[in-house]
Amino acid sequence: MINSKLPKIWYGGDYNPEQWEQEIWREDERMFKLAGIDVATINVFSWALNQPSEHDYDFAWLDEQMDRLHQSGTYVCLATSTGAHPAWMARQYPDVRRVDKNGHKRQFGGRHNSCPNSPTYRKYSAAIAGKLAERYKDHPALLIWHVSNEYGGMCYCENCAAEFRVWLQKKYGTLEALNKAWNTRFWGHTFYDWEEIVPPSDLSEEWGHNRTNFQGISLDYRRFMSNSILDCYRLEYDAIKQHTPDIPVTTNLMGFYPELDYFEWAKYLDVVSWDNYPSLDTPVSFTAMTHDLMRGLKSGKPFMLMEQTPSQQNWQPYNSLKRPGVMRLWSYQAVARGADTVLFFQLRRSVGACEKYHGAVIEHVGHENTRVFRECAELGRELQQLGDTLLDARSQAKVGIVYDWENSWATDLTSGPSVALDYVKEVHKFYHALFDLNIQTDMIGVEEDFSKYDLVIAPVMYMVKAGFADKVERFTEAGGTFVTTFFSGIVNENDIVTLGGYPGELRKVLGIWAEEIDALFPDQRNEIVMKGQWGGLKGSYECGLLCDLVHAEGAEVLAEYGQDFYRGMPVLTRNKFGKGQAYYVASSPDESFMKGFLANLCEEAGIQPLLAAPEGVETAERSKDGRSFLFVLNHNAEDSELELGGNKFKELLSDAELAGTTTIPGRGVLILERL
Ligand code: GLA
Ligand code: ZN
Repeated sequence: MINSKLPKIWYGGDYNPEQWEQEIWREDERMFKLAGIDVATINVFSWALNQPSEHDYDFAWLDEQMDRLHQSGTYVCLATSTGAHPAWMARQYPDVRRVDKNGHKRQFGGRHNSCPNSPTYRKYSAAIAGKLAERYKDHPALLIWHVSNEYGGMCYCENCAAEFRVWLQKKYGTLEALNKAWNTRFWGHTFYDWEEIVPPSDLSEEWGHNRTNFQGISLDYRRFMSNSILDCYRLEYDAIKQHTPDIPVTTNLMGFYPELDYFEWAKYLDVVSWDNYPSLDTPVSFTAMTHDLMRGLKSGKPFMLMEQTPSQQNWQPYNSLKRPGVMRLWSYQAVARGADTVLFFQLRRSVGACEKYHGAVIEHVGHENTRVFRECAELGRELQQLGDTLLDARSQAKVGIVYDWENSWATDLTSGPSVALDYVKEVHKFYHALFDLNIQTDMIGVEEDFSKYDLVIAPVMYMVKAGFADKVERFTEAGGTFVTTFFSGIVNENDIVTLGGYPGELRKVLGIWAEEIDALFPDQRNEIVMKGQWGGLKGSYECGLLCDLVHAEGAEVLAEYGQDFYRGMPVLTRNKFGKGQAYYVASSPDESFMKGFLANLCEEAGIQPLLAAPEGVETAERSKDGRSFLFVLNHNAEDSELELGGNKFKELLSDAELAGTTTIPGRGVLILERL
């Protein structure tokens, strides 16, 4: 349990009482009660209020809010307020201001704006976190710490440059080692003095979006930035833990946010939390995959849904309203996939600045007679009814899809073979097929224990880090099924090619050699022609993006290309390796192939779907203490028929016993406990 003080799914969200007068607070209290809200995240952007000048702290307003919220029965997720530095700090200490990729020194403004290597920022952010922890350590309202807010971005200032050199010296030891690792003889880049190394910005190696001349330095700068920002988080974490060792600490992550290596970050979070902002056209399977990734960061431990909007965003190009029922449906989607909290941004809509049109539980009209409030209150009541039943329940997947941040940097930064290559999109293709088949899936990091799984899929595993190939071999040898795709096994962690034929270190387990890689134009397609019937796969399917020209070296050829000069060369292979097998998909297939392929793999590995649910109906399962809860989420606007098979269930929200055929209403949710 995240904190046993509140043994239910936490309900509430970001709240900014400092922007309002006292009589509004009384209204908030009344309406929180009506909505079943029991958690408020406060103090997210109040650094300037808390520390009006360098040597002057003033927590009177926060004391009042903590006491008031406690008295009215609301717990607090207490932020450390360091998500935006005060104006006086920016003026007095220019080192806190970032330098952007074009070399511009930022002025005061915006948020998430501090240089992560600024001595001033580090000193004062840790100091205020410590002061807050000391002050509120015994406060009965305190439930969890929320450090800063949505860390991210990059800085290219002189401090960062100097720290980067120190970081490189630690990593490589000598300049010879660094020159070799980055292959600096290319374009005459050999370094003879550490001081010659400058950050890879638009003034040096990079241009545009993720374009670079030197992958080695660009990759290392991303690692360095992710680490530098993590260090800032850890300084606050340590300052807090000195006073409240037993109160959990988190910071809100952002799903597939590209710039921070969240698997590394998660090691230092007591609980993972994240902000979920899909838009109207985000596939529900993409949101599901992101929840699964957030759960995977800590090997399946429940996470917090820290933010979502009750109705609409303000920062998307078109801020559609969540249709009636969708907020509830998407809240349960998070819970189904491992969230033990449902929190919003924000509880009350602000009056001014850029988030005044962002949805909130309490809208500008100020009363409870709104569609949004009614929906929120209804969900609040249900979460109270569910109590602690679902808390800490875990998912049990037999399929793991590997996702790796460093690999995402490498595939983004690489020059060629195609600008259309999108690692996350390729990962989603596999996830989407499994999602449609109602197969429970984990999203896992390269460090995860593969032996928990029967099927491990590592799409576009372009960068193969030390030890990964060995791990894949051991997993496969022991009977596992391993799948990878085109553009895998090509480089090491510095983007240096593994010589001796693609897919490099994965060649042995796959039993193939990829001689060349063809990049297709967006409107160009090739064909996957099955060599016979395999399960539901027969005939031909479309593929595109990249086509590896593969030779089987021991692997069995299941399908061949149907077009072009490499017609007849393998496009789908299977290699027996020890007790298991390893598949290679040499091009990016269309959806119907994917579905058939994944269905075959699951069938062969004996992995069962959770339910035979119709199109648009999502399933996910959590279990604990011998009880298992099957979530059925109808994303269709219309009712759907469900065939429950021979099983008997109790539906937790209605208490009804269900078996045989049942109807799930449009946008409805069932939480079925197996009897
Ligand atoms: C982010 C931030 C919040 C708020 C919301 C708006 O998630 O953490 O402070 O700006 O976006 O959607
Ligand atoms: Zn900097």
